Amino acid sequence: MATRPRMVRTAAALRRALGNFRDAGDAIALVPTMGALHAGHLSLVKLARRRARRVMVSIFVNPAQFAPHEDFSSYPRSLETDLAALAGTAVDLVWAPTVDEIYPPGFALRVVPEGPAKVGLEDAFRPHFFSGVATVVAKLLIQCAPDIAVFGEKDFQQLKVVTQLARDLDLPVRIVGAPTLREADGLAMSSRNAYLSASERAAASVLYRVLTDCAGRIGRAEMLARVLDEGSAAIEHAGFTLDYFEARHADTLHKVESAADGPLRLLVAARIGRTRLIDNVAVA
Ligand code: PAJ
Repeated sequence: MATRPRMVRTAAALRRALGNFRDAGDAIALVPTMGALHAGHLSLVKLARRRARRVMVSIFVNPAQFAPHEDFSSYPRSLETDLAALAGTAVDLVWAPTVDEIYPPGFALRVVPEGPAKVGLEDAFRPHFFSGVATVVAKLLIQCAPDIAVFGEKDFQQLKVVTQLARDLDLPVRIVGAPTLREADGLAMSSRNAYLSASERAAASVLYRVLTDCAGRIGRAEMLARVLDEGSAAIEHAGFTLDYFEARHADTLHKVESAADGPLRLLVAARIGRTRLIDNVAVA
């Protein structure tokens, strides 16, 4: 059996472990996660492996990015399974802090990002979300001081927010985006897919199907508004309630009038039962 990676749970132990990597002059890559690891997370680890001598994975279910009515308490936690999943991926270190380690009593900081965090996509439906993400990611990047940090395109707006955060804080880290890993029917892998019932899971393949179909039609110069209307209807017909289904500028995430304003990215967030799913694709 492959050996499990070394895990540290305190900032002091983290500093000692990182000191050893730095003394050896090794480049470090960080893959931040909230655990419940799936093949999508592992693909980020593989990409990190190709870019740096040392790979760290952080596992921390960050309370600051969940609203009171959201799924913080029920979010899947599986540290043992996660460590087993990482065995054999040649991860050098797992940073799995407790909530008190990240937010000790008296903690009084909140990083409030603007720019891509205020474009009216995820932020319109989860107003607390990006300040929670930015606060914890700023801490993780400062604690681990990696040379590169890998984030998935699956959370496209988050990738933009984190890239902007690193730039604005002058953090000497390169943020690397990684492609979305999908199930055979196209559904983007997600820890939250575990919430889906069998019928919801079957319906969920509509998201990627509609995204790719609409991206193709927009690429063939069909009228943007009409393609989006028809795509929205197809998603709702499959049983989803849409939060948004939009075409945005792929770099700035600003609103666009037509494909000529591109490059474009199609982004969707939709709810089925008690599960909220997000996904996105490029318009070629
Ligand atoms: P989490 O949802 O665990 O995701 C961790 C990383 O895995 C993110 O960068 C996410 O975009 C990426 N990821 C998720 N599903 C993926 C898939 N199917 N293919 C490729 N990459 C995928 O995102 C978070 O955690 C948190 O917000 C975090 C950044 C860790 C801050 O708490």
